[in-house]
Amino acid sequence: MPDDETAAQRNALVDSLTEAAVGAARGAYRPYSGLGVGAAALAIGPDAGSPAGAADGRVRIVVGCNVENASYGLTLCAECSLVSDLHRTGGGRLLELVVVSHTGEPLAPCGRCRQLLHEHGGPGLVVHTARGAVRLGELLPDAFGPEDLR
Ligand code: THU
Repeated sequence: MPDDETAAQRNALVDSLTEAAVGAARGAYRPYSGLGVGAAALAIGPDAGSPAGAADGRVRIVVGCNVENASYGLTLCAECSLVSDLHRTGGGRLLELVVVSHTGEPLAPCGRCRQLLHEHGGPGLVVHTARGAVRLGELLPDAFGPEDLR
């Protein structure tokens, strides 16, 4: 049945993102909190003709891990590192996201990262949380964003 196939494909995508996120968490630099965090997202783009060219129209997985700092407040969340990977690999938009601890438990993006994710995925970004798939617009309603500066 097509519906089953779609559900199976969605589960396979979430499994792939979770595996990539757990793998990314292995790279975490976490001497202070002890919590390793891995993030993985399905990304697309940029649009054909973008100056970043190399990744035109390409769907791919981008990843990140948290990198802590002795000053604590300068710690980079896994999502920051993931956004860096998005741009390192040509730019584009985030479509679906998984964030996990180093033990594989699903984690919700912190408040600052919700804003960061809004910039690169918008309110339609699908975030796979402990309670299932939710849109970023639900986690960060009425967001301030790039359109407010136009
Ligand atoms: N952390 C993330 O990587 N992402 C989040 O969205 C929440 C918090 C990290 C930062 C820090 O290294 C550790 O988790 C504990 O706060």
